[in-house]
Amino acid sequence: MKKIGLLTSGGDAPGMNCAIRSVVRTALGYGFEVIGIKRGFKGLYENDVMEMNARSVSGIINLGGTILRTIRFPEFKEKDIQQQCYENLKKNSIDALVVIGGDGSSRGAFSFHSNFQVPVCVIPASIDNDVYGTDFTIGFDTAVNTAVEAIDRIRDTATSHERIFVVEVMGRHHGFLAIEVAIAAGAEIVVIPERPLTIEKIVEILEIDKIRGKISSLIVLAEGAGRAHELARRINEEIGGAEARYSVLGYIQRGGVPTYQTRVLATMFGNEAVKGLRDGLTCFMVGISGTELCRVHLKDVVSGTKTISEEKLKIIEAMGI
Ligand code: ADP
Ligand code: F6P
Repeated sequence: MKKIGLLTSGGDAPGMNCAIRSVVRTALGYGFEVIGIKRGFKGLYENDVMEMNARSVSGIINLGGTILRTIRFPEFKEKDIQQQCYENLKKNSIDALVVIGGDGSSRGAFSFHSNFQVPVCVIPASIDNDVYGTDFTIGFDTAVNTAVEAIDRIRDTATSHERIFVVEVMGRHHGFLAIEVAIAAGAEIVVIPERPLTIEKIVEILEIDKIRGKISSLIVLAEGAGRAHELARRINEEIGGAEARYSVLGYIQRGGVPTYQTRVLATMFGNEAVKGLRDGLTCFMVGISGTELCRVHLKDVVSGTKTISEEKLKIIEAMGI
């Protein structure tokens, strides 16, 4: 192997730039060349490429987003689109492809390898933390911290007005982000797709909170489990005198300066990705299990399903009394 192609794909996440920097500098250290591919798989399809060197990644370790830009390109599911991408890899003499992205990007990389036997490595990056095979994805820690900081601010006004607040967080079809945020922000209730709650159950908990003397309650709602404005409206309908309000945190969770954890994770993942390709692996994802880096076959990544922590749900309930 002499030349690595590198792209970022799908939803951006803080720390992608740290991973880009790590892949480039690790590869150069081993005598490999790196070709940056702009705007995910679409850039590969359009041959939107650029040579990268050590200076290409200067001054980005503390920047959110991705200097390679990203895009969602569902057309990549079509084999003729992948064919053109494969031709462009050959045109640039690229021997292997590193894809920095989330669950969908992992499926794209696996499909591309299955169809064209291009050596691929996925570096899991997503604020959703929904990629099977790794305890953490790049950007998740930063997104959790961003959401918790926002909720700490909301808590001030919720307490002052003695109100119930519903805060909607991202996470696509999963509750991983919502659960961590709920624990760290001290929420009384978390509502996630994996464990939906009826309005009756939510009202029951809120009524008990009131009896316990709570002057305000906080509900963290994962976007995959509903809309905050709707839940707030239902609470106000069901509980006389309640002044439930809501906030949708939205895209602030996708940006910002990456935290130390995100930066170290991304740097280690980028280094491990290049080492795995150098060792001859052709279809894998780098990940972390506990404190140990791991290399997981993409077949297992795309066929596995990450499950939520029942223990953490119990802890949220225990802390909410
Ligand atoms: P994320 O990687 O953040 O989950 P997406 O779900 O949009 O974001 O996936 C990123 C890109 O990966 C998609 O825009 C598409 O180009 C590609 N992709 C996703 N799923 C598949 C698939 N099953 N087969 C081929 N390509 C896919
Ligand atoms: O996958 C990351 C994510 O932020 C999800 O949490 C969210 O549902 C989705 O991306 C939003 O997608 P887009 O940026 O395309 O609107």
